[in-house]
Amino acid sequence: MELPERFANLPDYTWPRLRALLDSHLPGGEVVNLAIGEPRHAFPEFVSETISAHAEDFGRYPPNHGSPELLSAIAGWIERRFGVALDENRLMVLNGTREGLFSASVALCPEAKGGRRPFVLIPNPFYQAYMTGALAAGADPVFLPATRETGFLPDLDAIDRDVLERTAAFYFCSPANPQGAVASRDYWKVVLALAERHDFRVFADECYSEIWRSERPVGALEVAAEMDSDPERLFVFHSLSKRSNLPGLRSGFVAGGAKGIAEIRQLRSYAGAPLPGPVQRASARVWDDEKHVEASRQRYVRKYEMADRIFDGVDGYVSPPAGFFLWLPVQDGEDAALSLWRESGVRVLPGAYLASGRNGANPGVGYIRVAMVADEPELERGLEELRNRLCM
Ligand SMILES: Cc1ncc(COP(=O)(O)O)c(C=O)c1O
Repeated sequence: MELPERFANLPDYTWPRLRALLDSHLPGGEVVNLAIGEPRHAFPEFVSETISAHAEDFGRYPPNHGSPELLSAIAGWIERRFGVALDENRLMVLNGTREGLFSASVALCPEAKGGRRPFVLIPNPFYQAYMTGALAAGADPVFLPATRETGFLPDLDAIDRDVLERTAAFYFCSPANPQGAVASRDYWKVVLALAERHDFRVFADECYSEIWRSERPVGALEVAAEMDSDPERLFVFHSLSKRSNLPGLRSGFVAGGAKGIAEIRQLRSYAGAPLPGPVQRASARVWDDEKHVEASRQRYVRKYEMADRIFDGVDGYVSPPAGFFLWLPVQDGEDAALSLWRESGVRVLPGAYLASGRNGANPGVGYIRVAMVADEPELERGLEELRNRLCM
């Protein structure tokens, strides 16, 4: 079977690519998996209790857009975290943010802008769902380098005016995966002002917003409220996967303008899979609880302190302010990942698999991404192997 043309050039997804690179070789030591960004800190015990207490809900079709109880818990969390009060018609529950990020483009990207195929702006490197969402909507992705030279966020002044005029949406990730860079209030103001001036939407992926070290990242919703900007410009995505160590629960939401949310809701009524009822019940309790979030955050802070100690004095090491990744410069990310695996059993991701562009034009080529998800002793061994084996 042939793929439709618009997906014909999709590279293999990140994980099959990594398996193809590494798995025909034996690991050179006990395996330390720092490749996938799958949180492994504890999630709250009440999650399992709530799911089993409401197991009878598995026998019913769940509410499509989110139960009133879950939407109210999400609205409460947004108000506490960002100081913004949103009506429930500005929220839509998602099975984690990946499918929502994808379907936002499908639901909200116009077929043409100014009579031409629209552009979707994407930072480079980037989370892979953005590109597929843009392609599914029939738009052309435009990649904006987010490199060391640009502070690991796109240089907004460098975007061509003609490109902006043709832009329908801008996917933006803060704190950024993989670099951990955080957009400041002023940076967000420029993004939102550009969206207003050039008539496009912003899809703000903030799934790492609760994992930070000394300064809580500003949220796009609070900046938009301060600027009193048009609510239809901004759609913000949050998830329990990273915040609450529940990547398998598949639970998140999108918040945005009521009109755009109605369009997303409608598309998902036809084609989406609602969250199972017991998952909605448990999710509501998880959004209401901050204790486990704080405990997990402190553990990541200590992991960053460990990384800072181990990489102290290493040329090119940047200690990120948020998220749980290290983005480490190496000669060649694939070579580094392969030799690390073969010599020590430490598994990391070549940066090129998270970025677009061939060879020198791919800003991830000279990097590896390290997910600090393992338990501390295992992580320490992994980071020390990295420090000793890779010449940075
Ligand atoms: C930047 C970014 N956005 C979105 C996601 C999707 O997360 P989920 O679908 O579990 O909410 C991930 C997961 O790794 C991510 O790194």
